[in-house]
Amino acid sequence: MDPAQELLFYVNGRKVIEKNVDPETMLLPYLRKNLRLTGTKYGCGGGGCGACTVMISRYNPSTKKIRHHPVNACLTPICSLYGTAITTVEGIGSTKTRLHPVQERIAKCHGTQCGFCTPGMVMSMYALLRNHPEPTLDQLTDALSGNLCRCTGYRPIIDACKTFCKNSGCCQSKENGVCCLDQGINGLPEFQEEDKTSPELFSEEEFLPLDPTQELIFPPELMMMAEKQPPKTRVFGGDRMTWIAPVTLKDLVEAKFTYPQAPIVMGNTSVGPEVKFKGVFHPVIISPGRIEELSVVNQACDGITLGAGLSLDQVKDILADVVQKLPEEKTQTYCALLKHLRTLAGFQIRNMSLGGHIVSRHLDSDLNPLLAVGNCTLNLLSKEGKRQIPLNEQFLRKCPSVDLKPQEVLVSVNIPYSKKWEFVSAFRQAQRQQNALAIVNSGMRVLFGERDGIIKELSIFYGGVGPTTISAKDSCQKLIGRPWNEEMLDTACRLVLDEVILPGSAPGGKVEFKRTLIISFLFKFYLEVSQILKEMDPGHCPSLADRHKSALEDWHSRHHWRTLTHQSVDPKQLPQDPIGRPIMHLSGIKHATGEAIYCDDMPAVDQELFLTFVTSSRAHAKILSIDLTDALSLPGVVDIVTAEHLQEANTFNTETFLATDKVHCVGHLICAVIADSEIQAKRAAKLVKIVYQDLKPLILTIEEAIQHKSFYESERKLECGNIDEAFKMVDQILEGEIHIGGQEHFYMETQSMLAVPKGEDGEMDIYVSTQFPKYIQDIVAATLKLPANKVMCHVRRVGGAFGGKAGKTSIMAAISAFAASKHNRAVRCILERGEDMLITGGRHPYLGKYRAGFMNDGRILALDLEHYCNAGSTLDESLWVIEMGLLKMDNAYKFPNLRCRGWACRTNLPSNTALRGFGFPQAGLVTEVCITEVAVKCGLSPEQVRLVNMYKQIDHTPYKQEINAQTLSECWRECMAKSSYSVRKMAVEKFNAENSWKKRGLAMVPLKFPVGLGSAVAMGQAAALVHIYLDGSALVTHGGIEMGQGVHTKMIQVVSRELKMPMLNVHLRGTSTETVPNTNPSGGSVVADLNGLAVKNACQTLLRRLEPIISKNPHGTWKDWAQTAFDQRISLSAVGFFRGYESDMDWEKGEGHAFEYFVYGAACSEVEIDCLTGDHKNIRTDIVMDVGHSINPALDIGQIEGAFIQGMGLYTIEELSYSPQGVLYTRGPSQYKIPAICDIPIELHISFLPPSENSNTLYSSKGLGESGVFLGCSVFFAIRDALSAVRQERGTSGPLKCSSPLTPERIRMACEDKFTKMIPRDGPGSYVPWNIRV
Ligand SMILES: Cc1cc2nc3c(=O)[nH]c(=O)nc-3n(C[C@H](O)[C@H](O)[C@H](O)COP(=O)(O)OP(=O)(O)OC[C@H]3O[C@@H](n4cnc5c(N)ncnc54)[C@H](O)[C@@H]3O)c2cc1C
Ligand code: FES
Ligand code: FES
Repeated sequence: MDPAQELLFYVNGRKVIEKNVDPETMLLPYLRKNLRLTGTKYGCGGGGCGACTVMISRYNPSTKKIRHHPVNACLTPICSLYGTAITTVEGIGSTKTRLHPVQERIAKCHGTQCGFCTPGMVMSMYALLRNHPEPTLDQLTDALSGNLCRCTGYRPIIDACKTFCKNSGCCQSKENGVCCLDQGINGLPEFQEEDKTSPELFSEEEFLPLDPTQELIFPPELMMMAEKQPPKTRVFGGDRMTWIAPVTLKDLVEAKFTYPQAPIVMGNTSVGPEVKFKGVFHPVIISPGRIEELSVVNQACDGITLGAGLSLDQVKDILADVVQKLPEEKTQTYCALLKHLRTLAGFQIRNMSLGGHIVSRHLDSDLNPLLAVGNCTLNLLSKEGKRQIPLNEQFLRKCPSVDLKPQEVLVSVNIPYSKKWEFVSAFRQAQRQQNALAIVNSGMRVLFGERDGIIKELSIFYGGVGPTTISAKDSCQKLIGRPWNEEMLDTACRLVLDEVILPGSAPGGKVEFKRTLIISFLFKFYLEVSQILKEMDPGHCPSLADRHKSALEDWHSRHHWRTLTHQSVDPKQLPQDPIGRPIMHLSGIKHATGEAIYCDDMPAVDQELFLTFVTSSRAHAKILSIDLTDALSLPGVVDIVTAEHLQEANTFNTETFLATDKVHCVGHLICAVIADSEIQAKRAAKLVKIVYQDLKPLILTIEEAIQHKSFYESERKLECGNIDEAFKMVDQILEGEIHIGGQEHFYMETQSMLAVPKGEDGEMDIYVSTQFPKYIQDIVAATLKLPANKVMCHVRRVGGAFGGKAGKTSIMAAISAFAASKHNRAVRCILERGEDMLITGGRHPYLGKYRAGFMNDGRILALDLEHYCNAGSTLDESLWVIEMGLLKMDNAYKFPNLRCRGWACRTNLPSNTALRGFGFPQAGLVTEVCITEVAVKCGLSPEQVRLVNMYKQIDHTPYKQEINAQTLSECWRECMAKSSYSVRKMAVEKFNAENSWKKRGLAMVPLKFPVGLGSAVAMGQAAALVHIYLDGSALVTHGGIEMGQGVHTKMIQVVSRELKMPMLNVHLRGTSTETVPNTNPSGGSVVADLNGLAVKNACQTLLRRLEPIISKNPHGTWKDWAQTAFDQRISLSAVGFFRGYESDMDWEKGEGHAFEYFVYGAACSEVEIDCLTGDHKNIRTDIVMDVGHSINPALDIGQIEGAFIQGMGLYTIEELSYSPQGVLYTRGPSQYKIPAICDIPIELHISFLPPSENSNTLYSSKGLGESGVFLGCSVFFAIRDALSAVRQERGTSGPLKCSSPLTPERIRMACEDKFTKMIPRDGPGSYVPWNIRV
């Protein structure tokens, strides 16, 4: 074989010939670095986020058809692309040529915020439209199932995509004869016609039509090649790896004979992540090209045969077709497979192969349990000939006697038809409904004798409960001959629990949940089969009680319906004045075309170096030695920076950069490897050898910190009234606590920085994805021992931050700048997703303890609270988080006698930091949980107790700040009315009375979110700079960072209003310490408030100066006025400044004016839970907000719903998992689940109150960046409400204790029933758990 072949493919219609291809290269870095197509983004590198989605088109000379499909470029080996055409976001449209309708609509429908996910979204949608120009909503949501967005909450993205559907206004669902346009999906008419979407958020009329004839054609050269080129094995040789691509089965078998250990790479979704994340290396890879035998589809008399090379997506289409054509009794296995194929992974990943899926034998494989119960066989081929093996338990356990031999190739799979009286079912439960590996899955099959209901064959396989898919074969054997009745079920559960043994310390944790799922699935199977038996043979089989039927129903609707009611501008407002109008995000179009430049999109600087960190693998240890020898000897490695090199510069304020002699958490930065390429830096980092000696104590949890009194500083305290006296007067007292898990920021753009020495006077430019450029400037200047005026920090935009791009970012930037300065070469540092999640910390895990004294009517007269946050190994902003927690814990309630104390716990975890809401989402939840429990004790609904304690009109907070809570009451009332709370409450109760295994819950929470910076007055100042040029255009810059919230768009709106200048004439290039010095961090909901007032101030200064000129020539243009001003020597440049809101908080006295104003709101959510699996579905959410005067309703709605979905994630599915040694397990989207498109409420209604005056703020607007997060807890309480219904029905005793997040595990385990009672329990201390709650 000749290894020096050329790789040929097309990218965006251009031919690419790669002569020296390295088979280790994936398409993503190739596009970004080699072709400089930076529109395709890196978000995770493991197929889990969709940011890197591109479309691949292949021509099949046999069928003469072109197949277009989306793939994750991060997992696509470049050598697998021979003869294909790749389309990236740049290839479908641009601002310079013509926009593609997908790009235009996603931007104009406000579907972009930070924009980092947008190119991936665009390409998923584009690929769908190439195959289905008028997709259905199901196809649409499916197409986007593998794309994550952390900002928007998906609703506007769906809105944009829906415009391509044939009937975009409607859910297209006619379930029960009802569609969304007829009624609310809930079946309750709620909204009058005029309440539907305020039409002006976007206008469909102005959209470009989709014209398939305008798309890039498939390159004729590739067609000719496929038709004419004689099939020949291609071989690509790299430095370390050889890639062999046979194109005939014979050659494939030959290659496998020669290289038996080489994997056959098809989709690379199994091999790829192993190489990337587990360090597996394969010197040879065999990757078949288009081999017909591997794509075979044969239908015979006993079943169908599917080629191992078919993608799972193709398998889905084939099975769907077969199921349509064959009688139901024959298609049991196919239907079960289809069920899982619809939810398995994201759309892009479903291009992986059937063969790869089977042979990988992942423990959580969704298809293998079904293929095993379906008695499938595998057709193998080697040089020795053909062979068939069963896909059975031994195969799944990789028993050598029945496994593939190393030289064998899996050619195809036979999947037999099912028989009459044979039933197959599929079950799975994951942390999230789509694009998440199953926690437990199962395939179950039963065969009965003709009409006798006696079990003839039974087969049950489980995934997720052992090292591989396992069979409960002994149990099945023992049940043969038994009738299908409840006694059999009872015996079956006991047998299975005895056979499928899951030790308490089993990897993956959730052991009791898994045990429960094992038998809950069995119960579902029992019911499913009983129901069919009854239908088939009504005379013999007992009917299923109606109440049980809910166990069988899957969630009905994946369609979405929403209304947005926002404010309209005053009709008297000038048409050109943009304030109050839904202006599209300034960068929206650039996000959608991939032209928006993020830090890592900046071209490489000449001789640039790459920096990567080596971090501690121990949580608390002494460093005995660090051996850098091997790492330094690797070619390309330039240096390794340790604490020793930094010397006294290793510390800034209270933070130490690199570990000196001890490490205090896993992920503690130890040293930084600098090399001439990213690959070499990473390889070298793995060669750094560190010897540790563990130290005691190891403190990981809040409880351990309390036990060791391991706190940062003394307690913080807020007290009002006389709590001790009040406790004596109340009717009842309750005590309780709630633990709230932490949250990962999961900004889509990982930490990124580029330090560029300027070569003169020691100057350093540093481009960073940060919220706090001034701090970067300060820390870098201190590290380099330079005055600040020689260090400039520049930020064009940030791909999401949410509080996570300040403290740790600065430390990493300082080290990068140190390396850059030392070597006088630019240094780039881009964290991988796993490193980012490990190093940077997130929202603080929280423990809230409460003691409440209340009257029987629900009034809480005394409240004593203790708040503990898990701060981690450094202080960061943790004390401030605790202080904010204390100041905001009252949420919307007047507690006349209150004591709240808070502690920041020092633990051996990576330091936790700011995250959207900054303490409020945790502190508020503690209070709401307490209120809910008070309601239970009083026999009232939580909403009644909320109302009775709510602030009324003019009132005072616990720190004696006056508030006017009138709009709080309005939000509450309006939310009650808009959500039809009372009618729906009754409907929920009716549903619950009629259904045993699905329950619904409804909950409403109010919101009072204080906006301002507490006692940090200096943090409130802001500055801006506005220049007017002689052509009449303006350039504005200010201290705020654009991180998706649209602050730059709002600032241009401000300039436009103030200067009465069209927005098109105003430009904003980004944020820099060079133009606006001494900026404050962007965060705390006040970025637009503060900087907007500074921009306004600058504009007014200019207007004052130019007023005489303008009044002399009132009909002139800005060009005329600027020229006249220039001629008269009047400066056309002005600085604007805003001192910040006045605030004072005296912690000694517990009094002050801590905040400038309050955002009020309310949210009502309804959910349905599956009591057997713990799954939940968000049915509907109504949000009402008092936003003051909205500056831009499109952006403000985006902030509210994006925050709401982020909060929903916090309180329901986002779960960080740590080992008992303090190692974070959840280091990527595969393990940590943020909400995806499947999680958003089926119905979402957002409305603003009419404008309210807010005299001190920018045009009476309110900052809305953070408040919506808390409203996510309405979903938490709706789930809790559903759980109460379960427990009430079953007479479960004892209080319902719910920790956050309310995951499927917690929901299921709270639904105590005969199954949870049946499972074995491990006594505390009898085992070492796999994970711990911190
Ligand atoms: C982000 C992500 C999400 C996922 N979600 C899910 C999920 O929800 N449910 C689920 O079940 N799985 C999931 N998976 C796992 C996925 O199903 C498997 O990775 C995939 O099926 C493997 O197929 P592949 O073609 O990519 O295999 P490859 O990685 O190409 O190959 C895998 C293995 O199969 C062998 N092999 C491949 N073809 C043959 C052949 N013809 N003959 C002999 N050996 C062969 C190879 O030698 C290799 O060892 C997910 C994976 C990722 C990355
Ligand atoms: S970067 Fe490829 S899927 Fe996340
Ligand atoms: S806009 Fe989707 S991640 Fe920011």
